[in-house]
Amino acid sequence: MNYKQLNFQRHGDDRGMLVALEESKEIPFLVKRVYYMYDTVEGCRRGYHAHKKLKQVLVCVHGSCKIHLDDGYSQKELFLCKPYEGLYISSNIWREMYDFSSDAVLLVLASDVYDETDYVRDYQKFITTTRGNKNNEN
Ligand code: TYD
Repeated sequence: MNYKQLNFQRHGDDRGMLVALEESKEIPFLVKRVYYMYDTVEGCRRGYHAHKKLKQVLVCVHGSCKIHLDDGYSQKELFLCKPYEGLYISSNIWREMYDFSSDAVLLVLASDVYDETDYVRDYQKFITTTRGNKNNEN
């Protein structure tokens, strides 16, 4: 599955910690958009979509949350709880975010601006398209 756990360099000194993220360096694409989720309601599960082209890096900069990934063939659960760890998610991966701690802030760096036409929000359609594409490649 085309995802990658990233471990960012921590610049720590007697004043505290700092993490710097640059496009094409720590982030493996040009960053066109940044957004974040906070005050997520307890027990809430969100996401439920894949992207046709968009690539993203998720960083839980405060608190913790879990990420469910599905590429149409296998599934993976990841736990984000460190402000210096990132999760790169390529396009065509279904994602759901859940188990947010009440203090969680989930930061997302994205390779493009918001475009609703890039979303696949129907899981069955996602499975059909993903498996269809793979079959066409063979
Ligand atoms: P939504 O896509 O439902 O969030 P998620 O799939 O991550 O659970 O987004 C919630 C709302 O925010 C929706 O009205 C669209 C809007 N939105 C933007 O305006 N710009 C953005 O970059 C994103 C991610 C969402």
